[in-house]
Amino acid sequence: MRAIDEHTITEAALDQMASTPDPRLKEIMAALTRHLHNFAREVDLTPEEWLDGIKFLTAVGQKCTAYRQEFILLSDTLGLSSLVNALHDRRATEAGTKSSLVGPFYRQDSPVLKLGDTIVTKPTNGQEVCLYGRVFNAAGKGVPNATVQVWQPDETGNYDLQKHDPSEMDLRGTFRTDADGRFYLRTIAPLGYMIPMDGPVGDMIRAQKRHGYRPAHIHFIIGAPGYREVVTALYLQGDEHIDSDTVFGVTASLVTGVNSKDPSSPIPNLPTIKFDFQLPAAAAYGSGRVGADPSQIVKKVAS
Ligand SMILES: [Fe+2]
Repeated sequence: MRAIDEHTITEAALDQMASTPDPRLKEIMAALTRHLHNFAREVDLTPEEWLDGIKFLTAVGQKCTAYRQEFILLSDTLGLSSLVNALHDRRATEAGTKSSLVGPFYRQDSPVLKLGDTIVTKPTNGQEVCLYGRVFNAAGKGVPNATVQVWQPDETGNYDLQKHDPSEMDLRGTFRTDADGRFYLRTIAPLGYMIPMDGPVGDMIRAQKRHGYRPAHIHFIIGAPGYREVVTALYLQGDEHIDSDTVFGVTASLVTGVNSKDPSSPIPNLPTIKFDFQLPAAAAYGSGRVGADPSQIVKKVAS
């Protein structure tokens, strides 16, 4: 009989899991177990500390609802979402716009709108802007009829999901590019925000003396048949947290700004935020969304 101690336990666990028929599940669980055991040995984890860890993870799960996803927030604030995005981008077979976070505020089935429409549905004091650009492929050709999903916080840094009635959608929409791959819409300039701090992830951020802010940004999911979906966000230059994003979403190529005098604006006399998105060809490696509509995650867990 094998003697179980702080070293042999890892082999014992891996031996028992070796019967896993799914090779990818086997690989992932074996690596996870090895790293978890090494982590516990490295910090000489005590029972009290691991119980605190279990309480923390329990609280993260209990905080999740159809409108709140604390586990995505945890993944984001640990830098894991950004790392998984970077690995996803490395598997692309063609150049494309870099990925950024889906975050915990995405909702599927946002209103389908026409080019030039506004995504603002509530009274606002925000600065109205024209958000526009082009979706193009590796050959430089515009991609017609591409789906452009946009969502963002308001001028106070809040998403609709954080408002009085989180079931009412605001500041989100789904558009289709025109024959040249162009899109344009009306919105307001977003403000940066502090991530939700009233849950266990907020406790973690405070314990680490981090500021908890994200720089101002607008989220996008852009797709078209035959292309790899681009899941990304644009960040506004000049924001004081542009170099210290709490969830590590900012990368230099995704930083843009508000232009108050843009002669090429498709909606004249409005300041603009302009960005062109490059879609790489589709390849067989799955979705780039490190996140999902919180209501869909709750539904899948329940069923
Ligand atoms: Fe966001």
